[in-house]
Amino acid sequence: MVTSSTLSIPSDVSVPRHVAVIMDGNGRWATKRFLPRTAGHARGVQAVRRVLEACGQRGVEYLTLFAFSSENWRRPEEEVSLLMRLFIQTLEKEVDKLERQGVRLRVVGDLSAFEPKLQGLIHAAERRTEANSTLNLTIAANYGGRWDILQAMQALLRARPELAARPEAIDEALYAQYLSMAWAPEPDLFIRTGGEQRISNFLIWQLAYTELYFTDGYWPDFDAKELDAAFEWYRGRERRFGRTSAQVSTDA
Ligand code: IPE
Ligand code: IPE
Ligand code: MG
Repeated sequence: MVTSSTLSIPSDVSVPRHVAVIMDGNGRWATKRFLPRTAGHARGVQAVRRVLEACGQRGVEYLTLFAFSSENWRRPEEEVSLLMRLFIQTLEKEVDKLERQGVRLRVVGDLSAFEPKLQGLIHAAERRTEANSTLNLTIAANYGGRWDILQAMQALLRARPELAARPEAIDEALYAQYLSMAWAPEPDLFIRTGGEQRISNFLIWQLAYTELYFTDGYWPDFDAKELDAAFEWYRGRERRFGRTSAQVSTDA
């Protein structure tokens, strides 16, 4: 029997327990309206609020949002610095509310590249919400799936140097403990707005058996109705995890 972490098959499929989102299309949303791209990012923050609230109401336990990829540094300096400012402002403004709403905030990614003020705000926000458990909100910032896989390997070897001489002793379950979202179940539903059908170096390890939903709408327009459409589509999936359809019906 092959041991694979994807064998931990979720039992309830009516609401995805973990939703991971690539919030794409902010720039095009703005350009269509003859606005600077940055206006699209500002509107994107409002969509984050709506979706967070809707996820809470629907009983989603983990919401993971891709806010800035390790590749996004390639954008014009002006856009990058606006995104950083927006991140700082949003943290300053929203943390009280998150705390009251029972949301636990975590940020994953290589945070060392951010300015010290932003790093400080992130750590403070994480600490202030760490006792919360209603909804786990994770922001992926300066995140890349390959970075995650690599840092996990480095962390594993740092913690267990003796394993370098016995690599066969490393299995998926042990290795996965060092990934940056080790505390979360793998995403059940992935949503990408903006029309592109690609993963763009998001959670590449964790998305192995996730249902992938793509929609043409731009992120600033995304709301509870759009989320429900994605959930409706998700309910129609048969998550076989390698089994046959008949086996899935018997096991249910
Ligand atoms: C996603 O929207 C937000 C970030 C990457 C920060 P984009 O800025 O990629 O919007 P488009 O794809 O150019 O429309
Ligand atoms: C992916 O969006 C990253 C975020 C949403 C933060 P991009 O718009 O940067 O993705 P690509 O590069 O076009 O695939
Ligand atoms: Mg984009």
